[in-house]
Amino acid sequence: MDDLLAAARALDARDDLAGFRSRFIIVDDDLIYLDGNSLGRLPLATRDRLRTVVETEWGERLIDGWSEWIGLAREAGAALAGRVLDAAPEELVLADSTTVNLYKLAAAALDARPGRRVIVTDDDNFPTDRYVLQGLAAARGLDLRVLATDPDRGVDAAAVRDALDDDVALVSLSHVAYRSGAVADLPGITADAHAAGALTLWDLSHSVGSVPIPLAAAGADLAAGCTYKHLNGGPGAPSFVYVRGGLQAELRQPIWGWFGQRDQFGMAGGYDPADSIDRFLVGTPPVLGAYGALEGIRLTAEAGIDRIAAKARGLGRYACDLYDAWLAPLGLTLASPRDDDRRGAHVTLHHPQAWRMCQALKAAKVIPDFRTPDRLRLGLAPLYTRYEDVYTGLARLRDIVADGSYLAFPAQRTRVT
Ligand SMILES: Cc1ncc(COP(=O)(O)O)c(C=O)c1O
Repeated sequence: MDDLLAAARALDARDDLAGFRSRFIIVDDDLIYLDGNSLGRLPLATRDRLRTVVETEWGERLIDGWSEWIGLAREAGAALAGRVLDAAPEELVLADSTTVNLYKLAAAALDARPGRRVIVTDDDNFPTDRYVLQGLAAARGLDLRVLATDPDRGVDAAAVRDALDDDVALVSLSHVAYRSGAVADLPGITADAHAAGALTLWDLSHSVGSVPIPLAAAGADLAAGCTYKHLNGGPGAPSFVYVRGGLQAELRQPIWGWFGQRDQFGMAGGYDPADSIDRFLVGTPPVLGAYGALEGIRLTAEAGIDRIAAKARGLGRYACDLYDAWLAPLGLTLASPRDDDRRGAHVTLHHPQAWRMCQALKAAKVIPDFRTPDRLRLGLAPLYTRYEDVYTGLARLRDIVADGSYLAFPAQRTRVT
């Protein structure tokens, strides 16, 4: 056994989260899944819960099932509070998709800063975030100030500070970068934005369930994120919304739906938003998806974000060790921060032939992700990824690069017709 494999086994042996792997459906132990930051695995509890919801609550109780479901969005939001996110239960709710929530929150923030004409974001922000902000800026005749960020190092807090002035209404960024996994300085940027009189909107999609997120400590204003990545909520599971308690009454989101109404079943003529986080709700929640999110959040909360983040750091460090030993000599470069405190739970490699390598890895039973223009992204979901999986996955990558077998795969993404 080589030293790197021995190291993986030793790390697995003292991993206090190791038991969580058995809480997920894993049909093929030899399939190395390194894409849990795109779509998390299916927890057993979710499968069981969905069976009950479908067969009993919907199948038998029919409309009476709503007595269980009506509080689900708040229940799932509250389950995030404390052990997953640094926020209070009253500041969190499940609703809609991340894209829709980003729109709702950004629009509400802009309305709360009338007269200010600038939105600040960066070119490394996830596309949907940039498109939403572009759309809002176009509709309202505002300026979108897009900072140029190094895609491997992540957003530079000093560059954000330099972009702030008293015309900025909103700063909207990702906490963990979708390509590199770089962690933004959420407290520092939030403090600078506040000093300039602006509000902050954070996309937490890659950070929730992978790193601590000091929302309350930083006084962060607004956030949204996916539940289907590290929270393992399932495909299309609804997003969560965070709005700082002290800000809620001041904000009105633009989609006035009956779930946001103070007395929902009063069926009143006019819209009067609830005086709670409920005012960020819109319409009927996707109940099955919301149960997936709830169970995934509960599992994450049970493990606790501090233990999860510690393992994410360990897995990332170990992946970097393997990269140094095997992949740097083969011409790949590291496209993620090396500093454990500046990296989320994925490690990204750069190579002009990354697309081919990605396809070759899938054929070799390793599932990574490709990100434009030439990045191979390796998700290291701490709840079910073993150190030995990282060893096996990267050994397979080393082998397909070393023997050139990846060259047999198409050089570019081909459209499936
Ligand atoms: C950072 C980030 N934001 C948003 C999204 C997607 O949002 P939605 O669920 O609305 O498609 C993703 C999806 O991968 C993402 O990585």
